[in-house]
Amino acid sequence: MHHFHYVGPDLHCESVDLAAVAKLYGTPTYVYSAGTMADHYHRLQQGLAGLDLQICYAMKANSNLAVLRHYANLGAGFDLVSGGELRRVLAAGGNVRTSVFAGVGKTEAEIKLALEHGIYAFHVESEPELARISHVAGQLGVRAPIAIRINPDVDALTHAKVTTGKSDNKFGIPLRHAAAAYEAAAKLKNIEIKGVQMHIGSQLTEAGPFVEAVKKIAPLAAQLKTAYGITYFSIGGGLGIVYQDSLASGQPAWWDALPADRRPLTPETYGQALTPLLAPLGLKVLLEHGRFMVGNAGVLLARVEHLKRGAGKNFLIVDAAMNDLVRPAMYDSYHEIVPLHRDSSRRALTADIVGPICESGDCFAKDRKIQEVGEGELIAFMSAGAYGYVMASRYNTRGMAAEVLVQGSMFELVNARETFEQLIAHEKVPAFLQ
Ligand code: LLP
Repeated sequence: MHHFHYVGPDLHCESVDLAAVAKLYGTPTYVYSAGTMADHYHRLQQGLAGLDLQICYAMKANSNLAVLRHYANLGAGFDLVSGGELRRVLAAGGNVRTSVFAGVGKTEAEIKLALEHGIYAFHVESEPELARISHVAGQLGVRAPIAIRINPDVDALTHAKVTTGKSDNKFGIPLRHAAAAYEAAAKLKNIEIKGVQMHIGSQLTEAGPFVEAVKKIAPLAAQLKTAYGITYFSIGGGLGIVYQDSLASGQPAWWDALPADRRPLTPETYGQALTPLLAPLGLKVLLEHGRFMVGNAGVLLARVEHLKRGAGKNFLIVDAAMNDLVRPAMYDSYHEIVPLHRDSSRRALTADIVGPICESGDCFAKDRKIQEVGEGELIAFMSAGAYGYVMASRYNTRGMAAEVLVQGSMFELVNARETFEQLIAHEKVPAFLQ
């Protein structure tokens, strides 16, 4: 559930009229609901209540400093994947000591930075990486805390580009090599074995694959606890969100009307399925969700440039483009698109909703039914809080969009729209061309 809803005819985020935000800061602009983020954090905690939990928000989903600070205030640590993300945690006033460092290609400099700031643990993806971490820790005269990521070879039943727990994905160490990898780690004097890790993919809509993976790894976790005294089991992220009925899913009535077997995966069902498997281990459980925390907590506002009526086809051309929100072009993903001002007297229109970029891939939706909207009117792309702004680019020399955070009736610009001067600031014409 989330806090985007119509008040009369006008779409609001919490108590803020989104048209007012667009008027003040222009478009395209991402708007996030702090209340939704807090709710999702608490629902995850409650869904797995009874376990000793540490939530490390997967900041790759949305790493705006305001979002990070909000989660830090709520008590979250972070799942980070680069030195840049680590510096963001520091800049936002977050805690590196409750954060984990994931990713298959950590550089020596990044490892050093993480050790200097007391990272909770490195999630190790390979034997050569383990050797590198040990080497850097040795240079600093410290022991590096680690957990090895195990690839359980489970099908996450999600999009191929976000599946990570199959044996042919680049992630983790196969289960059958796990014992040997931990033995090797135990021999390294600059390595402190602290936990075990898994992450099987993103946008999972069923509990089954999580259950299968946890069942496969739990016996290993128990053995590692006995052998090396590990203290935690990180089960990664991946909880999926509602995209198709995004707006309606903000209402309790929508959930209540769904038969139980058709309800999207919730933290409650996720928790019910996993808690009985995890509790007997007596280990701390780390969760690294990104999309669930912020996905439904954000929208992208855009303005209609033209309604182009073609031969048997309409095109709604808007001022947001694939550079602002790449998910539809990259994964064929669905984002619900709604008018900011609802008008029941208008006809419905079927159109391709497209951006101004010069390629056909710059398409948000094909043959989408939407209330007729004309030049200058505003629309919102729902469920754009995760993997939206963070995946944006400057393609076609379009500056990065603005970002706004709402809390109750307050809202503030948390990232100004990039200007042309900022966009070209690091470019120069070399002397030999002048
Ligand atoms: N932990 C690890 C090791 C990960 O690789 C990821 C996501 C997460 C946690 C967080 O997963 P989440 O809870 O957000 O599903 N750009 C894609 C999604 C890529 C996910 C990458 N890894 C998209 O827009 O759908």
